[in-house]
Amino acid sequence: MEVLTKMLKIYPHHFGCLLILHLVICQGTDDPHISGPLEDKTFSVQEGRTGITYIFRFTLQPPTVKLRLTGVTDGKIYIYPGDWSLYVNGSLDWETKNVYNLQVEGLDENGQRVKGPYSITINVIDVNDNPPQFSQREYFAAVRQNSRPGKPFTYVTATDRDDPTTPHAQLSYSISKHFPDPYQTMLFQINNVTGAISTTAAGAKYLNPADGINYTIAVRVKDMAGQSENSFPSDADVIVTVLENLWKSPPLVKLKENSTEPHPMRITQVQWNDPGAKYEIRQKETPPTKLPFMVAQNGTVYVTEPLDREVKDAYSFYVVAKDKDEDISLSYPLTINVTVEDINDNPPVCDKALTVFEVQDNEPVGNFIGTFHASDRDQENTLNSRLSYDIVDQSPKVPLDKMFRIERGTGTVNLLASALNKELVSNYSLTVEVTDSVFKTLCNVRINVIDTNDQIPIFEKLDYGSMTLPENIPLGTVIRRIQATDADEPFTGSSQIEYKINKGDPNNTFMIVTDLKTNRGDVTINKALDFETTDVYNLTIQATNPEPLVTGVQYNSSSVTYLRVIVTNVEEAPVFLKTTHTVDIPENATVGTFLTTATAFDPEGDSIRYALKSDARKWLQIDPLNGTIYTAAPLDRETQQTYMVQIVATEQTKASRSSTAQLRLNLKDVNDNPPRLDKNAVFFCHPLQGNEKKKIEVSDPDERSYVQRFTYSLVGADAIQNWNVSKPDGLLAYISPRNMKLEEKDYDVPLKINDNGRPPMEGVVTLKVRLCKCTEENRCFLAIDDGPSLPTVGMAIGILAGVLLIIGIILGVVFLNLKRKKEYELKAQTANAVSPSELRNLT
Ligand SMILES: *[C@@H]1O[C@H](CO)[C@@H](O)[C@H](O)[C@H]1NC(C)=O
Ligand SMILES: *[C@@H]1O[C@H](CO)[C@@H](O)[C@H](O)[C@H]1NC(C)=O
Ligand SMILES: *[C@@H]1O[C@H](CO)[C@@H](O)[C@H](O)[C@H]1NC(C)=O
Ligand SMILES: *[C@@H]1O[C@H](CO)[C@@H](O)[C@H](O)[C@H]1NC(C)=O
Ligand SMILES: *[C@@H]1O[C@H](CO)[C@@H](O)[C@H](O)[C@H]1NC(C)=O
Ligand SMILES: *[C@@H]1O[C@H](CO)[C@@H](O)[C@H](O)[C@H]1NC(C)=O
Ligand SMILES: *[C@@H]1O[C@H](CO)[C@@H](O)[C@H](O)[C@H]1NC(C)=O
Ligand SMILES: *[C@@H]1O[C@H](CO)[C@@H](O)[C@H](O)[C@H]1NC(C)=O
Ligand SMILES: *[C@@H]1O[C@H](CO)[C@@H](O)[C@H](O)[C@H]1NC(C)=O
Ligand SMILES: *[C@@H]1O[C@H](CO)[C@@H](O)[C@H](O)[C@H]1NC(C)=O
Ligand SMILES: *[C@@H]1O[C@H](CO)[C@@H](O)[C@H](O)[C@H]1NC(C)=O
Ligand SMILES: *[C@@H]1O[C@H](CO)[C@@H](O)[C@H](O)[C@H]1NC(C)=O
Repeated sequence: MEVLTKMLKIYPHHFGCLLILHLVICQGTDDPHISGPLEDKTFSVQEGRTGITYIFRFTLQPPTVKLRLTGVTDGKIYIYPGDWSLYVNGSLDWETKNVYNLQVEGLDENGQRVKGPYSITINVIDVNDNPPQFSQREYFAAVRQNSRPGKPFTYVTATDRDDPTTPHAQLSYSISKHFPDPYQTMLFQINNVTGAISTTAAGAKYLNPADGINYTIAVRVKDMAGQSENSFPSDADVIVTVLENLWKSPPLVKLKENSTEPHPMRITQVQWNDPGAKYEIRQKETPPTKLPFMVAQNGTVYVTEPLDREVKDAYSFYVVAKDKDEDISLSYPLTINVTVEDINDNPPVCDKALTVFEVQDNEPVGNFIGTFHASDRDQENTLNSRLSYDIVDQSPKVPLDKMFRIERGTGTVNLLASALNKELVSNYSLTVEVTDSVFKTLCNVRINVIDTNDQIPIFEKLDYGSMTLPENIPLGTVIRRIQATDADEPFTGSSQIEYKINKGDPNNTFMIVTDLKTNRGDVTINKALDFETTDVYNLTIQATNPEPLVTGVQYNSSSVTYLRVIVTNVEEAPVFLKTTHTVDIPENATVGTFLTTATAFDPEGDSIRYALKSDARKWLQIDPLNGTIYTAAPLDRETQQTYMVQIVATEQTKASRSSTAQLRLNLKDVNDNPPRLDKNAVFFCHPLQGNEKKKIEVSDPDERSYVQRFTYSLVGADAIQNWNVSKPDGLLAYISPRNMKLEEKDYDVPLKINDNGRPPMEGVVTLKVRLCKCTEENRCFLAIDDGPSLPTVGMAIGILAGVLLIIGIILGVVFLNLKRKKEYELKAQTANAVSPSELRNLT
């Protein structure tokens, strides 16, 4: 028996019978699984067992007296003639043979077949007895620098002789290390299923052929999907050479504009690392423009037409390499930058159709008259846009030709001869030739001869007195019109007047705009006035002409006037430094937590007091003197998540002007609520059938409280004995009766629900469970669970019954009074009218 016990331990699943040497000990021989009559049978036997494995015992019926086993048994499968047990002697091997197809025949005493043959199939069950094996001990591979992370550059493969339908042959690849490891980070990764090896993001960044390093990657494969402690591992090395990446952006392309070369013209070349890629050009700029570039199938990039720098002086676009057959990008796109270089292909342009200058009748020789300007669209600050000027014609040539001179490089015009006479020639037309050394352009200039500027502007008033302005006067307001007159020729630079504030306005608080027709000056507010900074301006205003005065005449005090501006204070409300304060705070902040400080100042310097307005929940308090805001009560996000309060700053004067700022309090959730019942009552129809369950509807007002995380437990022995709470789909919880003999009544089932939040919150709720008689639609006669929104049939009947009862009583009283004699009949009627059970049964 000792041996038997031992064998039982070793082969516990063959608990029924054991066959030891010539002794067969069987237990429970009538167990249909381990013994039975002759018929077709299929058995499963694990490989690798040693010794004897009992499989099945055949029971023989006359005339069968013995059995014969045929087929290829490899000398391992027998029928024991003592009790006709089928057994395996020795070890089967799935990898050698995974199924034995045998036959068994029943023979009579004479050895004649009387039953069968029946097929006996013995499936060998694999055990994980083979380690995986790499196809090579060492692999060699090459990877390009900057190879896209995750894009395989080589594969390793391993095989496992175990049953491929089981985890025994399910392989998982991994990289344990690579040598060297210069960046202390994994440069390579392997797909655990396919064995595809690729670079990691770090590898794509760091691998560099210039380092001259060949990497040895130690790869490992494990069976049992690498998940079991009993996985067999196997190792191999992958030796990786880093190759130069040919896929890189070409250097900046410089193209001369307006090229006369034949187009398309080759400009640069890109090349994918392997043959067999196709290339495409991609827009980079938004909005997309038509790109004058194309790429050939061999990666040569062309410009398709002459470019124009003056339209667009630089291009940037992408070239992508794609798989020749599939429409997938092989790598990141390359940027190609093209700059367009200038050639002198634009003529100079006159800025105006006619440029007009003025010169005074008696202008001294050599005086400056004006500066002529033309422009050129070619690239700035290059010879292509460098212009030179020359006067090629003057009309009339009276009294002489070449009365004016233009400076070649700058275009300044000067008077060359003192022979001007307005009476003789009132204007000269000049033709100015402008050249950029390739192109010539002719421009027109007229020089008007005007009267001499021998009159000075005279102000109508030498003092405009003083005026008072509030400090808040809007910008741009015209505060005063001033007028000077000039007796020179009208509408020339000799009579035109320019007003300037000489003194009293260092910050250009005022400006004066001249009306060209009337020479009137409008004194205008240019910058905001501020009583607190400057409360009075003494302005000295000077009137001048754009043309110089003739020698001997000078501006005197008649060309100067005064204006005094007095700024008055406007009482201003306090000003907040910050008008919106936003504070994020966890809802469980303790009372008195500092939130923020609101600071306001009064422009007049009056002292300020702070207060809160619309603090509807009385959650906050403010220090009236320094504006520091604290919490004043426990907060609750579930009551209000965003709390808006106004901060009022009031100046401590009679006027008590005030301003407001906003405080926005964002309450951050803390798990501070236990789950609660959404529906606190359910019912079951009585009598219980045995498979009913009802959803427990719960929720939790906290953020990130997920019902599927809740756990439930019944509280108290009664509840545990009578009820059962389950989460069959792991999501919603259901209550079901455990005790099928519960009587028809209401039960209070205490239930502990934990939200498993951080921190976890747990609460005990009471679920009201009613066991009741049900209508045919499976509703309680007096259902309490169907929600408060709709009165149930039961409730309606209850109400109806109540009303009828009252009517009945009234009727009863009336009848009693009227017909005391018929007391007995009336009682019967009343009773009939109020019987709720009968009414219920009507439904
Ligand atoms: C099992 O096989 C061994 C060796 O092959 C043999 O000695 C032994 O008798 C066999 N036992 C039975 C019960 O067949
Ligand atoms: C294989 O890799 C996938 C994704 O990379 C991962 O989800 C899975 O758990 C891995 N399997 C094993 C066995 O490591
Ligand atoms: C790296 O491997 C390549 C190819 O196997 C070989 O030609 C080269 O010499 C090796 N370089 C180093 C530094 O070992
Ligand atoms: C192309 O030009 C852009 C912008 O000037 C620059 O950021 C980028 O590095 C350039 N790329 C190449 C490949 O020259
Ligand atoms: C190209 O140059 C020629 C002269 O060289 C000029 O006539 C033409 O306008 C230029 N085209 C552009 C687009 O600038
Ligand atoms: C690329 O292809 C074009 C034709 O598409 C051919 O003219 C050119 O010579 C080729 N260039 C190279 C470098 O093979
Ligand atoms: C310029 O002078 C011509 C005659 O010399 C005269 O007819 C013309 O009106 C003048 N133009 C101006 C604007 O003075
Ligand atoms: C001019 O500006 C400066 C600096 O803002 C200020 O100190 C000064 O008082 C101003 N002066 C007047 C006259 O407004
Ligand atoms: C402004 O002018 C008045 C007289 O018109 C003079 O009394 C006053 O001192 C002046 N103020 C300043 C700041 O120049
Ligand atoms: C200024 O000069 C004008 C003449 O140019 C003369 O009429 C005027 O009286 C002078 N004013 C003063 C204050 O000298
Ligand atoms: C607020 O709740 C968080 C998270 O549960 C906790 O770490 C913190 O101590 C609580 N703070 C107060 C003041 O109770
Ligand atoms: C504001 O005043 C209170 C009470 O005087 C003081 O406790 C607090 O520190 C002050 N806060 C600031 C920011 O000055």
